[in-house]
Amino acid sequence: MPTILDEYVAKHPGSAQRYTEALTLFPGGVTHDTRYAQPFPLYMTHGTGPRKWDVDGNEYIDYVSGHGALLLGHSHPAIVDAVTKQIVRGTHLGASTDEEIRWVKAIKALIPSVEKVRFHSSGTEATLMAMRLARAYTGKNKIIKMQDHFHGWHDYAMAGSDRPAPGVPEASWGTMIVVPSGDLNAVERALSNDSDVAALILEPTGAHYGQLPFDAPNFLKGLRDLTAQHGVVLIFDEVVTGFRASPGGAQVLYGIDPDLTTMAKIVAGGLPGGAVGGRADIIDMIAHRGDPDWDNTHRVYHPGTFNANPLSAVAGSTCLELIASQPINQHADAMAARLKSGLNEIFGKMEVAGHAHGIASMIHVVLADCDCGREICTMPHRQIQETTASSAVTGLKRGLQNNGVDIMGRDAFLVSATHTEGDIDQTLDAFESTLAAVREDGLL
Ligand SMILES: Cc1ncc(COP(=O)(O)O)c(C=O)c1O
Repeated sequence: MPTILDEYVAKHPGSAQRYTEALTLFPGGVTHDTRYAQPFPLYMTHGTGPRKWDVDGNEYIDYVSGHGALLLGHSHPAIVDAVTKQIVRGTHLGASTDEEIRWVKAIKALIPSVEKVRFHSSGTEATLMAMRLARAYTGKNKIIKMQDHFHGWHDYAMAGSDRPAPGVPEASWGTMIVVPSGDLNAVERALSNDSDVAALILEPTGAHYGQLPFDAPNFLKGLRDLTAQHGVVLIFDEVVTGFRASPGGAQVLYGIDPDLTTMAKIVAGGLPGGAVGGRADIIDMIAHRGDPDWDNTHRVYHPGTFNANPLSAVAGSTCLELIASQPINQHADAMAARLKSGLNEIFGKMEVAGHAHGIASMIHVVLADCDCGREICTMPHRQIQETTASSAVTGLKRGLQNNGVDIMGRDAFLVSATHTEGDIDQTLDAFESTLAAVREDGLL
């Protein structure tokens, strides 16, 4: 019997060959850390709706979903049409445009806490700017962040990360206070012990879009109260959860308004883009006032060649307007619910210790038992992390790829509005065969 690895190598000769060359061209042969895979990553050619194809002609049901950006699936006709029309009108007009006004209105229509917006080119830029705005607005230096929460790769965001951080100056750690995720008492202690706190930032469904969840409604409510009491800016990083946890993100789902929201991915309709939105008095720290004292001394500086570029603006507006007017989220959520219950049935039927949990269209798989309600997993975070690092999970990831399913990272299914019941059922068949292969390989 060939192993999962044997089958992976046999099915993907074109990817193997490209990776050999890529190793001489890119660090580690890849252009994004999560694409690093052994013995080689897969090379894709194109996608449509929920499916994509690799260079060897293999077809995949895609749950990477453009790292979460593609709530409308690959190459949605309305986005293709909008971008095609815009590209002949210009990709950068070096000026303000109607397209950016349409884009900000589409965001405001979905997220009531957003009064004003500044556009960026990525989520990393958005979280960097949110932290800077909070520091400038409050005149304070420190930012509270939750352990393991991901806010991109700039120096401040790397504090309390599960990744190494050579190249990040010690001094930048000094302005970050990392607390255990979901621990309201720890936040309260940090706020009481330090009067130099400008902001608190977090992923509002837990680290890695809910892979390591907390009791979201109560924790978020507690954070809202505590930050308001201490005059600290509350930042929800909704780069993944924005327009996905609900049309208005996690904040609308749970009914809690942050002061600032960071957005990327879905906000730009599958093109590069990011944004910081929120309270006008904070966002206006970037505003020119025509007063030299303010403009030259207090104002937060913000250039950026591709801020609000017209291509991302039309893709983002088209996407957000569809979310506002059609049952996009309902469909994606219903498909995710079907997937989640099917995965849990398979674990039970095959008597494999494992479960699927998650909310909306974000489903996470853990190869360990838990008696949680399958929405907010109650396993200790360290246990989830250790399980997700296991060789069984490596086998699961590769085996799913052998069986035509590509998941996000090592554990996540990001479901789109283009996945159908047929796609979900085919995914479940593939999952069952893969679990059997993982067991066959002696990894379970
Ligand atoms: C919650 C969160 N914040 C920020 C970022 C960084 O966004 P970008 O990759 O666009 O820089 C990500 C990226 O995945 C994210 O998941």
